[in-house]
This record gives sequence, C-alpha cells and structure tokens, in this order.
Amino acid sequence: MKISVSLNGEPREVDVNALRDGFGLPGSKNACEQGECGSCSVLVDGELVCSCLVLAAQVDGHEVTTVEGLAGNGELHPVQQAFVEAGAVQCGFCTPGLVVATADLLARTPDPGDDEIREALSGNLCRCTGYAKIFDAVRLAAGRLA
Ligand code: FES
Ligand code: FES
Repeated sequence: MKISVSLNGEPREVDVNALRDGFGLPGSKNACEQGECGSCSVLVDGELVCSCLVLAAQVDGHEVTTVEGLAGNGELHPVQQAFVEAGAVQCGFCTPGLVVATADLLARTPDPGDDEIREALSGNLCRCTGYAKIFDAVRLAAGRLA
C-alpha cells in the first residue's frame, strides 16, 4: 500500500510500512514493539505516540515528526543540545524517544516540575543513565526555551 504523509515537514510517499527502512530515518528505535519502552516515539499531528503501535495506514494523510525533524537549519533542537550538554546520553538507544517526549512536554508545559517531568517521561525507559541526567537535560532545555 502506498501512503502519503507530511514527514518532518516534507510531503512524502512510500510503499512500505516502516519509518526506519522506508524513509531512511533511523532515529526512531525499534525495541520492544509493544508500546512499553518509548524508544520509537514520534509525533503524529503533534501528538506523542509509540510508532511501533501505529500502522502505516493510520498516518496516511497525516503529519509525522521524528527526532530528525526536530532539528532545523543544521542546528540541534534545544532539547537535543541540552541532552548532550547535560550528559544525558550514554548508549543513546533511548535518547531519540526521550528527546521527542521532552519536546512534546515542553511544548505543552514550558516550566514543568519534577512530577510533571516524571509523568511525561514515564513511558520512556533508559537502562543506562539512572534518569538523573535526563531530568537535568529537561530542566536545562526548559530554561532555554522559556
Ligand atoms: S519499540 Fe515502540 S514502545 Fe518500545
Ligand atoms: S542511554 Fe542507554 S538506554 Fe538510555
């Protein structure tokens, strides 16, 4: 089936059902495939979703933003930059999903408290960092985007 989407701001058509292989966007990770880890997080029409739970047909005619689409003009998105500077990236497998989820949080809640950060990122698992540096990155990005 051929689908048409607005992908990271560009109109695209493809015959397959995978972001990573079909569109050559490897940022979204394929891990649990059950909606449990958040490593595949993307925005569909501005709403945070686990892409592993979304069929290609469901995004036909919709707008999809991946972690690659957050950066613009050759510069990192402030959330991406904050993750780098705060040391919130170790193996990096969880990072794209956390960056997308954090960007979504800060778009809705520009100055989140710790409970709001915890709630917003509760669907994104990280086996490396212990989350403290990730919280630092969220606070750093929030301060810069305010
Ligand atoms: S791969 Fe989609 S939530 Fe884990
Ligand atoms: S940095 Fe390795 S899983 Fe999060």
